[in-house]
Amino acid sequence: MAYFQNKVAIITGSSRGIGLAIAKELVANGALVMLNGRDEKRLQAAQSSINNHTDRVAIFVGDVAIEETANALISACMERFGKIDFLINNVGVSSRGNIGDLSPSVFRLLFESNVMGSVCPTIAALPSIRQTKGSILFISSLVAVHGLPGLAPYSATKMSLRGIVESLRIEEAKNQIHVGLIYVGVTEIVSDKEAIAADGSKTILASRSNKKVQSLEEVSSAVLKQLRKRTYLSVLTPLGKINAFLQARFPLLVEKIIVKNLHKFEEGNK
Ligand SMILES: NC(=O)c1ccc[n+]([C@@H]2O[C@H](COP(=O)([O-])OP(=O)(O)OC[C@H]3O[C@@H](n4cnc5c(N)ncnc54)[C@H](OP(=O)(O)O)[C@@H]3O)[C@@H](O)[C@H]2O)c1
Repeated sequence: MAYFQNKVAIITGSSRGIGLAIAKELVANGALVMLNGRDEKRLQAAQSSINNHTDRVAIFVGDVAIEETANALISACMERFGKIDFLINNVGVSSRGNIGDLSPSVFRLLFESNVMGSVCPTIAALPSIRQTKGSILFISSLVAVHGLPGLAPYSATKMSLRGIVESLRIEEAKNQIHVGLIYVGVTEIVSDKEAIAADGSKTILASRSNKKVQSLEEVSSAVLKQLRKRTYLSVLTPLGKINAFLQARFPLLVEKIIVKNLHKFEEGNK
């Protein structure tokens, strides 16, 4: 796609999963990409998995929820590629457990990762993205449509991205930056994908291979479409679209539907 030719993208949290799928599709469409993650080996493996394009793919190891590290990521990208057209705030971790069972540290950890991990790179990248009139895209989830049982910290942090996006769109309109938000549905996961358990420890999520979920490619295609069209909001999956439509008009009906299907949520949260 000509639109992405020689454009420069930073994708936070892109050593695997959705972030890596977005990176692969951007590179396949002619973009230059800066991958990011905290584990160096995983990041190197991700870089070499993008076949024949290693010269167009750089890596930056570090935790983007830390201000200095996020600043260093942006500087590294400017040094290597000279500009930034797209920042994709993809870093995010989920949690498991009802509020009554949760250690408050789970909320702190998720706000640190999912909110600060999006805010720090955004603030650092803004001056460069103003120059290219590029895009900042925030990867949210259908858990942000209505607070879900067993997922409160995850729902709360993904909902708060919307507030950031709405403010940023208004503030940066004069600079012609595109700011977008995408609500991703349940998607295929890597075999060792982690979430945060009620006591704050890490837990490995059950395989989704026997469930009907979105493929990584479906999600990455939706991301590229949103970047190209510079649209505000994408809600993925037919169920997600119905849910968002009803939530805006009849939130208590959505609550009733969730309560009626509680067993499905409990099963899905494993
Ligand atoms: N999978 C789904 O069903 C689904 C559905 C809706 C929305 N989403 C959202 O999509 C995004 C990606 O999800 P995913 O399932 O692909 O996740 P994943 O497989 O767990 O991958 C997360 C990536 O982020 C990196 N990472 C995590 N925290 C980081 C930090 N603080 N700084 C830098 N890198 C960090 C991880 O590498 P290291 O651990 O090595 O740092 C890894 O590369 C998340 O925002 C998630 O909430 C996912």
